Amino acid sequence: MRILLTGATGAVGAELAPALVAAGHEVVAATRRPSAYAGPGSAVTFDLDGGDGALAAAVEGVDAAYYLVHGLDRRDVAAVDRTRAARFARAWGPERPVVYLGGLGPDDTGSPHLRSRHEVGAVLRDRCAAVELRASIVIGPRSLSFQLLKVLSCIAGTSPLPVAVPASSAALTQPIAQRDLTAALVAALDLAPGVYDVGGEEVLSFRALLERAAAAQGRTLRTAPVVPLGADWFGPLASVLAGVDPWATTSLFASMATETVVDDARRPPGPDGRATDLDTALALALAG
Ligand SMILES: NC(=O)c1ccc[n+]([C@@H]2O[C@H](COP(=O)([O-])OP(=O)(O)OC[C@H]3O[C@@H](n4cnc5c(N)ncnc54)[C@H](OP(=O)(O)O)[C@@H]3O)[C@@H](O)[C@H]2O)c1
Repeated sequence: MRILLTGATGAVGAELAPALVAAGHEVVAATRRPSAYAGPGSAVTFDLDGGDGALAAAVEGVDAAYYLVHGLDRRDVAAVDRTRAARFARAWGPERPVVYLGGLGPDDTGSPHLRSRHEVGAVLRDRCAAVELRASIVIGPRSLSFQLLKVLSCIAGTSPLPVAVPASSAALTQPIAQRDLTAALVAALDLAPGVYDVGGEEVLSFRALLERAAAAQGRTLRTAPVVPLGADWFGPLASVLAGVDPWATTSLFASMATETVVDDARRPPGPDGRATDLDTALALALAG
């Protein structure tokens, strides 16, 4: 198939492009800066904040699409992502399949960031033949959540004493190895429209994940989830330590209070994220 890959330059899309080519597809990378695209296939100008003409041209002559557009660094991310998804859906139409990668977590009660991810999924499913794959933290070298995990666990792992972390970090999560997510995304082209959950074998608290990420870097980290301070306090601090955009960091920290675990009834047939164990996933991401 000839596939429009939006977000081709992002953490998920950059790994997905070669996997789609290996599976026999032709990739058209949809990006705001096609001249800077260095991945496989061709590239086309695609800006969901730009004009209608270029958008119509970009979606022309392709059989299927991946929707991996995200504006996490934007303060108004929810409104921006909602508007972008609606524009894409209008240009794409109801017939052709589109695969969207969203986030795990309850539909109504999660963090603003997770609710926004679900909202984008709902827009696409309402108006397109959309497959929504939901995942928690992607353990891959360029994933922003993994970068935060790596840097913070490495710094905290130097402390000889238990390190205070937000009490909310006791919430459970189910990280997924990037290579397993990529396999699930490729296979998602054959799924019927609907919502599917993917995640690794292991369910653990964010706090335990921090300790495991430290161990993967040769450090012993003990955490104490005693601090009643929220994301508004920890987010900016973590962003300075990790050198990551403060708004994105605060959004991700707020999501840490939400349980992001797979509903096994929603596992897709075929690759579902469980092939790679967590320690291998961490080692691969650290090496990448
Ligand atoms: N990373 C994770 O841990 C994780 C976990 C679960 C779910 N997800 C989901 O996976 C999806 C992709 O995440 P990611 O981590 O790969 O994101 P990312 O690295 O931040 O990439 C975002 C992409 O959005 C594109 N984009 C931004 N503004 C655009 C615009 N106005 N028009 C067109 N494209 C635009 C960018 O493309 P250009 O700059 O090339 O235009 C970029 O490639 C998101 O839906 C995210 O919620 C990610």
